[in-house]
Amino acid sequence: MPILEKETPKGRGDSKVLPKVPVPPLKQTLDLYLKCVQHLVKEEQFKRTKAIVEKFGAPGGAGEFLQKKLQERRDKTTNWVYDYWLEDMYLNNRLALPVNSSPVMVFPKQAFSDRKDAVRFAAHLITGVLEYKALIDARALPVDFARGQLAGTPLCMKQYYRLFTSYRLPGLKRDTLKVQMNAASLEPEHIIVACKNQFFVLDVVAKNKQLNEMEILSQLEKIVKMSENAEERLPPFGVLTSDGRTEWAQARDALTKDPTNRASLALIESCVCVLCLDEPSGLEPNDTNRALLMLHGGGREKNGANRWYDKPMQFVVGMDGVCGVVCEHSPFEGIVLVQCSEYLMKYITGSPSRLVRSSSITELPPPRRLLWKCNPHIQGLLAASADRLQRLVHNLDMDAYKFKVYGKEFIKKQKMSPDAYIQVALQLAFYRCTGRLVSTYESASIRRFEEGRVDNIRSATPEALAFVKSMTEGKAALTDSEKMKRLWDAINAQTNYTIAAITGMAIDNHLLGLREIAKELNMDKPEIFCDETYLASNQFILSTSQVPTTVEMFCCYGPVVPNGYGACYNPQADHILFCVSSFRESTETSSAVFAKALEEGLLEIRDLCNRSGAAASKLAGSGQGAGQPHKAGK
Ligand code: COA
Repeated sequence: MPILEKETPKGRGDSKVLPKVPVPPLKQTLDLYLKCVQHLVKEEQFKRTKAIVEKFGAPGGAGEFLQKKLQERRDKTTNWVYDYWLEDMYLNNRLALPVNSSPVMVFPKQAFSDRKDAVRFAAHLITGVLEYKALIDARALPVDFARGQLAGTPLCMKQYYRLFTSYRLPGLKRDTLKVQMNAASLEPEHIIVACKNQFFVLDVVAKNKQLNEMEILSQLEKIVKMSENAEERLPPFGVLTSDGRTEWAQARDALTKDPTNRASLALIESCVCVLCLDEPSGLEPNDTNRALLMLHGGGREKNGANRWYDKPMQFVVGMDGVCGVVCEHSPFEGIVLVQCSEYLMKYITGSPSRLVRSSSITELPPPRRLLWKCNPHIQGLLAASADRLQRLVHNLDMDAYKFKVYGKEFIKKQKMSPDAYIQVALQLAFYRCTGRLVSTYESASIRRFEEGRVDNIRSATPEALAFVKSMTEGKAALTDSEKMKRLWDAINAQTNYTIAAITGMAIDNHLLGLREIAKELNMDKPEIFCDETYLASNQFILSTSQVPTTVEMFCCYGPVVPNGYGACYNPQADHILFCVSSFRESTETSSAVFAKALEEGLLEIRDLCNRSGAAASKLAGSGQGAGQPHKAGK
């Protein structure tokens, strides 16, 4: 049982019962699947796929039977896709968490005057974390409502309840997500502080009272001092958590043979969050470097081992002002991470630090260093993990790039959805770089439903292909108005797919459900799921996500396949932040080349819109105004 979740009665934040995620009609999903893949595979292959899909969907076929079983599952469970999705997306994945899975929030560079100042910031941050956690525990966070497309409906709040109560335990074949959903735990709470690769327990409750900021600061100062004691320094055990999941699970098995290690692991696994006090990296703190340092800590020589990647919330405070959050992704989505991070940034800038001398400070026992027992075998494992992390560090090619020419206000003025527009621009950039389109993932929130997480918007639509061709090889052959028509077709297709996805009508979760329920019923794997097209369609060479923020900060993550790109974007009124990532070991990708193609594409699309707008006004002025081609998707 890979997901251990202990529930509590519903609190204020989730008193309304949301609808269950629907199971889309089988034929609708199969038709859309064929439409999504036809232009991405060779004609011969598509013919085979079409025959396989038709057989699967035929009356009395496997599809019909599995669909019925899925509907029964929907009736019996709160969310029929939740466990299937969680295992498929995260828990079964054996890749290392840093870069491959864990997204990060990068805070603005902080101007600390000295190390003491950095530690004061950390104390303030942790006080904010505890305040936010108290709101969550009391189920007192205001309910989120959908914005953008189909705005206004309430959203499921359960992801918040996992922020500080989860732990991803490595497994030899599959990980386990342990979640303690009890609103108010009776256990005294603690955080884990990592400093110079040492781990310390900081109890945040003493004598039934939560520590105030001054007390937290005093404890953190003690930790910094303890970490400087070279004689007591222990090997960098955190590096093990940066390894592949199977490797880490094997190492963990080796560690747990010793009771000291078991006790240290138990304390880490039950903490509220991790605070990483990082050493200066020596790198110029530009956006790209700060993003890299959040994603992998800079490897062995820098802060790569000053982490514990299994813990969902790791706050990083660098002595050089490089700060942010590293998040283990399986318990919640980036949007929840943003909400939490924004609360904290507002807390830090808006509420004065409470480090006044008058504030009472209890004499507290010093924080405890976590002890580890090592042996030559474990020493070897530590070295191997550090080597693999080093390879990941060298491999990651990141470009955090601000497109400054325009932002979502310009796009809205064209009466287009900014998200759809940016997705079409990403397709254009990819086509420019490679001469083809590929299976693309865009996360779409399904939090309108009970326990909803995400489904996939397959942005490489046939309409997008027609448009990008008209902007590249077909450039000279088509008039502006023909190109504009194709742009509208692409935007409308993307917008309509978005609406389908956020209302539970996308295909990825549904196909996954059909595949997994067949497995559960011990059936032979239906041919549709062994087909080359299906396998290719799940290789997301372009993995994209909108993560907007209202406070200065940005999100980023790595690619999900060796020859792919990760493209996270943050649309603002007058600019768009992009974080493009890829792997240097792939000869097919380059983040800088992709970012440049994106810039060119965004400029060309703007010019096309402007020329068409000017032509339309001229026509309107002469009394022959052309109709607006946009089909409202909102
Ligand atoms: N004309 C003018 N304005 C339009 C428009 C149009 N045709 N279409 C949309 N807009 C406006 C919207 O009203 C909205 O306005 P606001 O900024 O005042 O709220 C704004 O443009 C943005 O809308 P849009 O760009 O269409 O996107 P969206 O906000 O609906 O987002 C998704 C689309 C798919 C990104 C969103 O539904 C979603 O699922 N987000 C979660 C993604 C996620 O999980 N990320 C984290 C992964 S870890």
